[in-house]
Amino acid sequence: MISFMKQYVVRDMNKISVAIHGTGFIGLVSGCCFATRGIKAINSTFNKGNCERINNGESPFFENGLDELLKEAVSSGNFKCVVGRDKAIEESDISIIAVGTPMRKDNSIDLYFIKQTARQIGHALKKKDEYHLIVVRSTVVPSTTRNLVGKLVEEASGKKMGKDFGLCMQPEFLAEGRSIEDTFKPDRIIIGELDQKSGDILQSLYERFYGNYLENCPILRMNLESAELVKYGNNCLLATKISYANEMARIAELVVGVDIVQVMKGVGLDYRINEEFLGAGVGFGGSCLPKDVNAITAFAKSKGYNPRLLTSVLDINADQTIHVVSLLKKELPDIKGKRIALLGLAFKPGTDDMRFAPSIRIAHHLIDEGASVIGYDPVAEIEAEKILGNSIDYASGVEEALYDADAAIIITEWDEISTIKVEDFKKYMKTPIIIDGRRVYNPEEYNNDIRLVSFGRTEIS
Ligand code: UDX
Repeated sequence: MISFMKQYVVRDMNKISVAIHGTGFIGLVSGCCFATRGIKAINSTFNKGNCERINNGESPFFENGLDELLKEAVSSGNFKCVVGRDKAIEESDISIIAVGTPMRKDNSIDLYFIKQTARQIGHALKKKDEYHLIVVRSTVVPSTTRNLVGKLVEEASGKKMGKDFGLCMQPEFLAEGRSIEDTFKPDRIIIGELDQKSGDILQSLYERFYGNYLENCPILRMNLESAELVKYGNNCLLATKISYANEMARIAELVVGVDIVQVMKGVGLDYRINEEFLGAGVGFGGSCLPKDVNAITAFAKSKGYNPRLLTSVLDINADQTIHVVSLLKKELPDIKGKRIALLGLAFKPGTDDMRFAPSIRIAHHLIDEGASVIGYDPVAEIEAEKILGNSIDYASGVEEALYDADAAIIITEWDEISTIKVEDFKKYMKTPIIIDGRRVYNPEEYNNDIRLVSFGRTEIS
């Protein structure tokens, strides 16, 4: 029975069409990747302007390599973007939900877009006779796929999950700036399934998509709720590693001569640990780690459990942006009226994303203390301005940011920023005090001529 079903599914896979609901970086990247490997992909959105741009091969946001990939997808003839869900569902066998799940004011997850999309899929399925598989790829708190998506689709379509439509939850692990590479070369595929048929269909899609690559990439099948929690488990552990490294960095700073970079290298070489995400600094930001740690913390609290470890992970992260200002004030006790340059504003290099960027909190702390702040970022100025407005000045280059500054703080390790020379700091700044919030400069090299304060390291005086 199982082998018959698998054969049936695999044979059909050659003609499979996938609808992807959402044109954010996960939805659009997935659609383009499918199309360039010969799988018909239809992205659906309600934003007419974006839809037109996408069909013209122009990405509505910045992501490494996406413009080229999108052009390739459009010209392959396997890709299109449509307005609304109906047409995409009518022409496809599988629906992937890739809409945003932002954070609400109370830190819990906002499932508004998920609910809307589930209802829209339900309405479209009402008009369709064939079996359809629905796959949730957005990050959602455990039980959302079955109890919210599944139920809302049933309500709106009058159909039954497990009979008329299938349900899967497949968490994504794409990091911004690397999302195309992460899609083509995942380290594992997690398939949460309502029933075996749903999981078999999704697995067959990936067998078709990845081919031999799957020899090095395990596919793990489990129930919907476990798959939902894998995503949080993953991001919470990454965030925990960073906050752990930051806590160690604060301890390192208490002992003259200790350097956190060397310490974490030593720790990371333990084969059970590894060096990734042990980089101490101004802390984590972005669209995933802060939102996901907050969402699962709020979820646990709503169920009566207080997750102390995760609460501390968030507290330590928030403290790091206050700590930068205290490090600065050790060098420059009265920062009122002083000109402070923030080098890098985006939450990490390679993106213009400003969501939960540490630069925002650092700018606010400095402004509260009366400092005058000038920020520079190679790509994120427009996004930064949407959040910080005219509370800070914006420089068009490193030189302008440093010009006449009393101190500079390194926030995002863009190449252009990590390679600033000692001479340039000396040449442009009023007083060359540098707080290295990402540990990009070599203290041995820089400290002779300028005052370099490195996170997680106290100089032998
Ligand atoms: C992350 C996860 O990596 C990805 O798997 C998930 O799907 C989404 O969230 P992303 O938010 O794009 O991806 O960025 P990532 O490269 O993981 O960096 C997150 C934040 O942590 C950045 O602000 C970065 O500067 C910070 N970070 C990272 C550190 O402070 N120290 C480190 O050692 C590593």
